Amino acid sequence: MKLVVTGALGHIGSAFIRSLRPGEFDEVVLLDNLRTQRYASLFHLPEGVPFRFFEEDILTADLARRFEDAHAVVHLAAFTDAGASFESPAEMESVNGEGAEKVARACVETGARLIFPSSTSVYGTPETTVDESCGDAGLAPQTPYAASKLRTEAFLAALAAEAGLRHVILRLGTIFGPSPGMRFHTAVNKFAWQACRGEPLTVWRTALDQVRPYLDLDDACAALRFVLRRDLFAGGTYNVLTCNATVAQVLEALRRHVPDCAPRLVDARAMNALSFLVSPEKFKALGFEYGGSLDEGLRRTVEWLRNLRPENP
Ligand SMILES: NC(=O)c1ccc[n+]([C@@H]2O[C@H](COP(=O)([O-])OP(=O)(O)OC[C@H]3O[C@@H](n4cnc5c(N)ncnc54)[C@H](O)[C@@H]3O)[C@@H](O)[C@H]2O)c1
Repeated sequence: MKLVVTGALGHIGSAFIRSLRPGEFDEVVLLDNLRTQRYASLFHLPEGVPFRFFEEDILTADLARRFEDAHAVVHLAAFTDAGASFESPAEMESVNGEGAEKVARACVETGARLIFPSSTSVYGTPETTVDESCGDAGLAPQTPYAASKLRTEAFLAALAAEAGLRHVILRLGTIFGPSPGMRFHTAVNKFAWQACRGEPLTVWRTALDQVRPYLDLDDACAALRFVLRRDLFAGGTYNVLTCNATVAQVLEALRRHVPDCAPRLVDARAMNALSFLVSPEKFKALGFEYGGSLDEGLRRTVEWLRNLRPENP
């Protein structure tokens, strides 16, 4: 069986490809344009897994050729800085919109199944717990990035109806936990980086008591593997998150590992007054079990970043 992973060198991809074991796939195609220079994600890949790496852009690659005979495509290539999507909406839309559509069409052409990672940032209903059935009332994307995820979800549903695309949509919470292709512009990772640097933690002024959904990186990889193992490609949409937590709770967990870290409140464009809880129950009801926790994810991240503090000799 052949598996394709686009954006394979990124934060999630670099962990996911390390979760693969010999004998699971006959070929694992890794496709990434190296735009973000994450060469280190290719270091020390697991022995015995038949990887083939292509330095290619999803917008220009011959995807039908790459996906030929593939069982599934895990589509992780994207413009993923939600904050920066205000400044670069065209670039974001070309990769996340056109790019995802091209990937989906190539899946139809080749018969490959598609895992599309959307985001829990498509939600925004204050005060209630939102789930996948909330409809328009619960959907309130706050950034161009989140809005593009919703548009792609709708495109995939239409392509499934018109052309028989087999796909699943996973609305992932904000990832925490270390990987070789890790990035640091999302909340938990950024705080861990700042704490390990001995810098103040730049918390959005409105955010301290807001509840948001977070996803342990190992749980994310396990969820992708679960979908593949269970062949969950009937067009379902699932929230995937390890926990809902306030930023204050994230900081409390971080202080257990870096006791002297402290927040500094700042303003940000993507800031909003919304606090929302996302329900993980639909995916759990399929039998998926979460194993991660904020405390353990932060412990491991701080462990990876040890000896970063400027005062270290
Ligand atoms: N990390 C999170 O917190 C999070 C949360 C929810 C959803 N997601 C989604 O999961 C997916 C993966 O996220 P991630 O955190 O691993 O992202 P990432 O930014 O760490 O990795 C994306 C990878 O895609 C590659 N890439 C970008 N544009 C490309 C292109 N045009 N052609 C080929 N490769 C390209 C980059 O070089 C990078 O290696 C994205 O769709 C993201 O929106 C991530």
